[in-house]
Amino acid sequence: MFREVNGKLHVEGVNIEEIAESGTPVYITSKAMLENNIESYRAAFPDARMLYAVKANNNISIMRIISKKGFGADVFSDGELYLALLAGFKPEYILFNGNSKSRKEIEYGVRTGVKFSVDSVDELHAISEVAKEENKEVKIAFRINPDISPDTHPKIATGLKKSKFGIPWEEVIDAYKTAVKLPGVKPVGIHCHIGSQITDLSPFVEALNRIVDVAKKVEKLGVELEFLDLGGGLGIDYHAEGVPAPSELANKLMPTFRERIAELKSEPQLWLEPGRSIIGNTTILLTRVNSVKKAYKNFVAVDAGFNLLIRPAMYNAYHRVSVANKMGQKEEEEYTVVGPICESGDILAENRKLPKVERGDLIAVFDAGAYGFVMSSQYNGRPRCAEILVDRDRWFVIREWESFCDVVGKQIVVDF
Ligand code: LLP
Repeated sequence: MFREVNGKLHVEGVNIEEIAESGTPVYITSKAMLENNIESYRAAFPDARMLYAVKANNNISIMRIISKKGFGADVFSDGELYLALLAGFKPEYILFNGNSKSRKEIEYGVRTGVKFSVDSVDELHAISEVAKEENKEVKIAFRINPDISPDTHPKIATGLKKSKFGIPWEEVIDAYKTAVKLPGVKPVGIHCHIGSQITDLSPFVEALNRIVDVAKKVEKLGVELEFLDLGGGLGIDYHAEGVPAPSELANKLMPTFRERIAELKSEPQLWLEPGRSIIGNTTILLTRVNSVKKAYKNFVAVDAGFNLLIRPAMYNAYHRVSVANKMGQKEEEEYTVVGPICESGDILAENRKLPKVERGDLIAVFDAGAYGFVMSSQYNGRPRCAEILVDRDRWFVIREWESFCDVVGKQIVVDF
């Protein structure tokens, strides 16, 4: 879906130069690529329910494509819940996650009829109270901390013993005992999420085993389990060196799942919460070169920085880059691509061999669809950029470029 035609990068049938004329920087998503990713999950897990992790990319046009394919949604705030509902996800397949839900968020979740992943007994009591007031019964799962350490960046490993998320798996039975007795809440699931950008599949199997161990004890309390939610976390191929596809995750996971749920009385469905592996590789960030300078290194200064893509600065993340208007040309020099932000850490790509870069060239930063725009800011007073969706040879603005009005935003000027 991203390919070279006559030396120019094309997204499906559209030359990126044509889009760049409307303005840069800009995020550009391929609809066909998104549909491919959705289909590969559906084919790999025909009997499971996929809950798209809204935090990865919450653009409504993009999420509508996902919701129409029968996905549910994992939301982490009332704002994400609002967006998920607008995108057409059905409340019964929305799981309201989060380790710190306010009273207002709980009320919103209860009124909309979504399920809750409960992170503490404190939260359980708060949900029960709201449910009683609203005369509702809320279906819940507890998020367990499985104490599993996947091989990923420490900032995105979430199932470690010391992590802030979930209830230690050895202690969660007490929480279920409390839940069984409380009015307004009905435990029906077990939830866990071990981390993100995971490319070694064994920790997923380990986590599944933990969940089933817990499930056996939970059932003894008379709980009928409707789902076991293993969270998201499957990594994508940032380095273009080959990583497991959803089908490989399924091959690794499903034999254990089938074998182990036979030990249970209930027949819970497997739920998964993929974010990055649905949307990550569908999108490039296209940015224009403002200047090239030879200093300590060859610096290419572009119009997007960590204000728009924070992953390299925050996690030392690697994103492939290309000179999108000089595809296929000889990569003759080493460059470091930096943004316009007033911080030394504003580096998008370090020491990359590229064709000779000049002012006005376009740099494509690949695999920017997940945790890209959603983590953007207006730092340095820069309006956020637009998002474009490409469908074959047509393209649509699915989020407009912000202006200075958006930067002024909600400020109220007090004149002393
Ligand atoms: N479910 C839960 C409860 C999560 O916390 C997450 C991600 C997901 C699902 C989706 O995981 P995925 O399939 O996308 O790996 N900003 C970081 C990633 C943070 C992930 C947070 N939780 C990054 O840019 O690498």
